[in-house]
This record gives sequence, C-alpha cells and structure tokens, in this order.
Amino acid sequence: MSLSSELNKALKIKETKRSKHLFPLKDSTFRSKDLIQGIKVILSKDVTMSKITKKFEKTFTKKIKSKYSLMVNSGSSANLLAIQCLTNPYRKNRLKKGDKVLIPSICWSTSLWPIIQSGLKPVFVDVDKKNLNINLDDLKKKISKKTKALMLVHVLGVSTDMEKLTKILSKNKIFLIEDTCESIGAKFKNKFLGTYGDFSTFSFYFSHQISSVEGGMICCKNREDENIIKSLRSHGWAKGLSNQKKIENKFKKINKKFLFINSGFNFRPTDIQAAIGLSQFNSLDYFIKIKKINRKKIINRLVLDQRWNNQVNFIENDSKVKPSWFGLTMLLNKKYKNKKNKIFDKMDKLGLENRPIISGNFLKQPAVKKYNLLQRSKDFPNANYIHEHGLFVGLKNQVLKKTEVDKFANIFFNSFNI
Ligand SMILES: Cc1ncc(COP(=O)(O)O)c(C=O)c1O
Repeated sequence: MSLSSELNKALKIKETKRSKHLFPLKDSTFRSKDLIQGIKVILSKDVTMSKITKKFEKTFTKKIKSKYSLMVNSGSSANLLAIQCLTNPYRKNRLKKGDKVLIPSICWSTSLWPIIQSGLKPVFVDVDKKNLNINLDDLKKKISKKTKALMLVHVLGVSTDMEKLTKILSKNKIFLIEDTCESIGAKFKNKFLGTYGDFSTFSFYFSHQISSVEGGMICCKNREDENIIKSLRSHGWAKGLSNQKKIENKFKKINKKFLFINSGFNFRPTDIQAAIGLSQFNSLDYFIKIKKINRKKIINRLVLDQRWNNQVNFIENDSKVKPSWFGLTMLLNKKYKNKKNKIFDKMDKLGLENRPIISGNFLKQPAVKKYNLLQRSKDFPNANYIHEHGLFVGLKNQVLKKTEVDKFANIFFNSFNI
C-alpha cells in the first residue's frame, strides 16, 4: 500500500472516532497531502527549524503582503514576542515598565498575559455588539498620556474599521499589535488583517482556518524588529540575524557559534510543522471559501424554517470587511437568556458542540481577579452582553450536504425545546 493510501485510511479512521459530536468545534483541516509533507521532513531527518520554515515565511510574506514574517511554535509565543520586542533594550523607541497597553475585553488569555508578563499595564476597552470587535468610542476614552500600545484582537474572522482605528492610533502615537490568531486571510478594504499594525500575530493551532498542529507567525515592519524577534525566538542568539557578521566582529573574543546578544526564549517551530503549515497555507483561500459556503447554507436553512423564531442573531461582517469565518458566531435572543445554559447544554448533547465567544468578557475570569487589574467587569456592558448571550459553533471544512444541513437545523431547533 502506498504511503498516501495508508494515510488516507488512517485519516478516515481518525475522523469518525475523533469527536463525539456530529458538528464538532474542532474539525480537522488536514488532508493526506499536508501530512505527507510533514512525513517527508521526518524521513529527511532534517527536522528542526531550517529551510522549510524559511520557505513558509517567504510564502506567507508574499501572500499576506507583510514586510517580515517569522514562524514560531504558537500564536501565544507570537504575542509574547511582539510585546517583548516593543520593550526590548535594542529598540530605540520602546515601551517602559508601567506603560499602558489597550486591549479589548473580549480577548484571549495569551493576548493579555504578555502585557502583564512584560511589566506593562493592560487597560481594557469595551467591544461592539455588532461585530464583537473593539469599540472605537470607548477606545478614545481610555487613551491617556501613558497609553503606548494597543493589543488588538480580530475576533473570529472579522474586524473593526481599521481605517478609523489606525487614524486614532497614529494621532496618539500608539503602537498597534494585531492579534490575528483567529482571523487569518480576512481583509479590511482589500488589505489583509495583520498588515495594518507595527506587529501582527497568527495561530496555526489545530482548530483554526489552517493548521500546522501547533504553530504561529509574527510579522513586523522593519529589519531592526525582525532581528530582535529572531534573536528572542531562539535563546537570544546572534545566529541568523541580518547583522550577524557585524555583531561577530564586535565581540571577537566570544566563540561566534555561541554568541548571545539578547534575552531569549525557545519559540522555534520545527520544519515538520512548517511543511504541514505551508501545505495548508497554500489552500487558505479554499478553506475560507468552504466555511463561507457552509455558513450561508446553515443560516439560509435556519431562517427559512417554519420553526425559526429569531432564536439568535448571526454576527455579520461590516461591508468593508472580507471575513475569514472561524465558526458560526451568534448572539442568543434576549428572551432565552435565563434558559441559556440549558439550551447550550442540550445543543451539545444533541451533537452541536458550542462554546463562548473567545472566553467571554475576560475581566470575569478568575485569573484576572488574582492579579488585581483594577477595572471592573461590570463597566463593560457590551462585553457583558456578549458574555451572557454569545456562542459559536464549528463550520466544518468540507461543503455540507443537504442532509447534514437538515440535521444541523433539527439539532438547533430541538435545543430550544426545553
Ligand atoms: C485571539 C487569540 N490569540 C492568541 C491565541 C493563541 O494561539 P495559540 O493557540 O496558537 O497559542 C488564540 C488561540 O486560539 C486566540 O484565539
């Protein structure tokens, strides 16, 4: 049996066994052709970060139209590197301890913690109910002299008005980090999300639009930042930097193979991840299209059903945004608020796995309380509304058949019979 047919067989077995849900949140994007690329790297025995990682970075830069892209082992590492680069002593214009960093209250844990881990102060900003993204009016109110950066989160495949946002930020000299971990391939006014900021980050974790198992990418706008990030990614090493020769000449007494010039982490990916990630990335448009088709099929089926009673409002993209849907995002109709948990539990039991919008209002999480972040969750009315009413379900990575869409609809409507 050929490697490809063995893999196809293995993939089929896994797919049926992997989830107890008919409609899981985590639907695999892996095809045998992606995994074969990873296996080829394993067989070559050149498995650590090397040529294939560079090839992925180059392809990514070209497609997204970023300036510099560096692959890392996760989106979380990319976020930490962006903040660590902004505070790094090699950076002329850098953030100092106690400087404030804005962040939407609907965010992911590792969008937030790098700010605190780097000695900076997070300032939470409320979000919009319409698109789940940062609220620009609240953002303006939260800016002070100490505000130096924004860790923006593009929520589940859509964004805020990037034109208005970048105007506010440049007027106030605020750095922008775009956490694009959930929104790869989405555009605002025909320009990819992740190309507006000083830094941007992407995740290739398993359940995302494309995957390298674990993995991520960080983009930046100039060579200096690229060199800082490269060094931080790999132990603080001088190896592989564009100015490596110059550094070696400066520190001639130290073995040039083991020359450390910065603080550091080990956030390197492997070439195995890069090979799988690159193969997936080459089909990014295809994956985005499938999700778009499935989303449309499901929504059309639900709203035309005689059982439709505005049970939910679907989150739509603003007209200037070309979305890259992560899942089917919705807000439960107010009238069901008190039955929310029962409805969501029943959905799950019937086979429609669901979860909150990212992690809800992050200020409600116990981890935040432990760190005394001063702001109160009750001061974020829209984030609270999303916390109380928001949910999303998976969209699968193969075009849904009519029978599947019917099953989806039956589960959905039956979940409200409680
Ligand atoms: C907004 C956001 N940022 C960062 C991350 C972290 O990415 P990773 O799981 O690759 O560490 C996630 C994870 O899904 C995310 O949703």
